[in-house]
Amino acid sequence: KDLSAPDRHTFIQGDICDTALVNRIFSESSIDTVAHFAAETHVDRSILGPAEFIQTNIVGTFTLLEAARTHWLDYRGASPEKKRFHHVSTDEVYGTLLPDAPDWTEDTPYDPSSPYSAAKASSDHLVRAYHRTYGLPVSITNCSNNYGPYQFPEKLIPLFILNAVQGRPLPVYGDGQQIRDWLYVEDHCEAILRVMTDGIVGQTYNIGGNNQPPNLVVIEQICAILDEMLPQSPFAPHKDLIKYVADRPGHDRRYAIDITKITTDLGWHPRQSLESGLQKTIDWYLGNPDWVSSIQSDTEFEIWIQKNYSNRGEGK
Ligand code: DAU
Repeated sequence: KDLSAPDRHTFIQGDICDTALVNRIFSESSIDTVAHFAAETHVDRSILGPAEFIQTNIVGTFTLLEAARTHWLDYRGASPEKKRFHHVSTDEVYGTLLPDAPDWTEDTPYDPSSPYSAAKASSDHLVRAYHRTYGLPVSITNCSNNYGPYQFPEKLIPLFILNAVQGRPLPVYGDGQQIRDWLYVEDHCEAILRVMTDGIVGQTYNIGGNNQPPNLVVIEQICAILDEMLPQSPFAPHKDLIKYVADRPGHDRRYAIDITKITTDLGWHPRQSLESGLQKTIDWYLGNPDWVSSIQSDTEFEIWIQKNYSNRGEGK
């Protein structure tokens, strides 16, 4: 409904591990460009059930790469013009940083901590191998923590906005001093488009938002915005809802991404500060109650919340 030209789009619901379907789409629609966003992404889910992460992130990426290789490359392996396989990945492949360690660059060795990030690292290696071995025209981006409209409320920012508005506890893992780099989703999309159009084939580009506060600062910012927007709420001040809970196993302490390459080579810069991005995000969640309730009324979502939070011990 929201698309500016819906008739230029086709939605096909399918599984990226379904080889027959993927091949049929490649040939019937003469696909020349792939923007591969599809993945299992939530670290906590990967800890409680890693199998789906191996399947979707590794086997799914392999299935798409194989389809591109089959449909795009001739028998000598020559790469045709005007084709691009863009792989969307994560900064979590780099692992965790000590407090004074330098930010991650595109040359930082991979050191993933969770089944999720290990599966993404594996998929990145496959994409690079298809470039080196077969000459497939690929590019890769490794981004930091996304937030913004439509984010599934299992992730920190949407979960905490909705819990705060509804008066539920805000479950802070460990001491809440972990550091992430927050990237507004539309800034991320602009960066991907820039890499797909102007980036060099075979290269990797890091994408980040240049916002690196501890989790507790982000949470307090969300609570302060809600206090201002909903002064009559029985749950204000919202930060009273904070509850320290047991830490995530293998929890990465600090992420910080160096975006010099994409800013210098391609002229991309994030537009949103954390403050402006959080305000837009909160406006969106408060303005879309139907979307929110369609997710919260889904029993699968409720089962996930129980599974991850109900037997968690205390933190800090
Ligand atoms: O860095 C990019 C990555 O960012 C992406 O590759 C992942 O797909 C994405 O999920 C995200 O990973 P994180 O694990 O950093 O995101 P999450 O929103 O789950 O957690 C952010 C921080 O907040 C992290 O330090 C854990 C903490 N947290 C999270 C949840 C869900 C809490 O303290 N309580 C919570 O209930």
